[in-house]
Amino acid sequence: MRRITSSSEWLAYYTSNLASHPTHPWHLGVDAPHDQLEPIVGSLQAWQLGETSDGSHLMRSAEVYARKTGDTTFVEVARLFIQEEQLHGDMLGRFLDAADAKRIKWNWGDYAFRAVRYSFTSMEVWATPVLMVETMALIYYKALHDATESRLLRSICSQILRDEVTHIRFQIERLAILHRKRPKWLLNLTYLQQRLLYFIVCITVWIGHGKAFRAGGHTFRSYWQTAWRKMNSAWRRMKPSQYVWGDTPSVLEVLTRKVA
Ligand SMILES: [Fe+2]
Ligand SMILES: [Fe+2]
Repeated sequence: MRRITSSSEWLAYYTSNLASHPTHPWHLGVDAPHDQLEPIVGSLQAWQLGETSDGSHLMRSAEVYARKTGDTTFVEVARLFIQEEQLHGDMLGRFLDAADAKRIKWNWGDYAFRAVRYSFTSMEVWATPVLMVETMALIYYKALHDATESRLLRSICSQILRDEVTHIRFQIERLAILHRKRPKWLLNLTYLQQRLLYFIVCITVWIGHGKAFRAGGHTFRSYWQTAWRKMNSAWRRMKPSQYVWGDTPSVLEVLTRKVA
């Protein structure tokens, strides 16, 4: 059983993580043969676009959420979260520049993903698809890491992977809070809807990025199995019954104490 991380703890985490982001070996340039880059560049362009949202919709959803729950600190947390995602977009953009590939402005997958997120100004409607895509990101950036010999790209992917693991916990806890008082039958219906949405996300991401996943060593079967294993773990951790809603230390506090 764990306690939900408070917004002031998240604020401390994002502030410190943004201040301690590692530098990457930009001086090396892309440093990978063309035949390794070719299967990933188109996909990287689309993923880079996805990481560069201005975050205005999340900020509106966060303000509504803060008003409803009284958790005003959350608005600042959301701002830092957006900043971290934009940093991912910047790094991937710089890599594309080094590879002489354009930064694109439109992609069908990105358009569809934004359409779902923007359909309502609700934290749940925002956090659910973001959690799913961040779960995909864990598989994607690992595949991208393994697809080339580029030390620069590997370094960028390693950092994004570290950040995304925590982003996933951030979304899972938000959804656990939002689901906390939901009756069991409605919660089961919510999970069923999420499974249907995730099925569509898995198919869509493979259609858009299958070539890059293959370059990173995946078959459709291994991709599918990994995707569902990771999301099943997220669903288990999302259940409100997994949390004590009192004042025991959070996972983040315990980790911080160990590091200190
Ligand atoms: Fe990201
Ligand atoms: Fe993320």
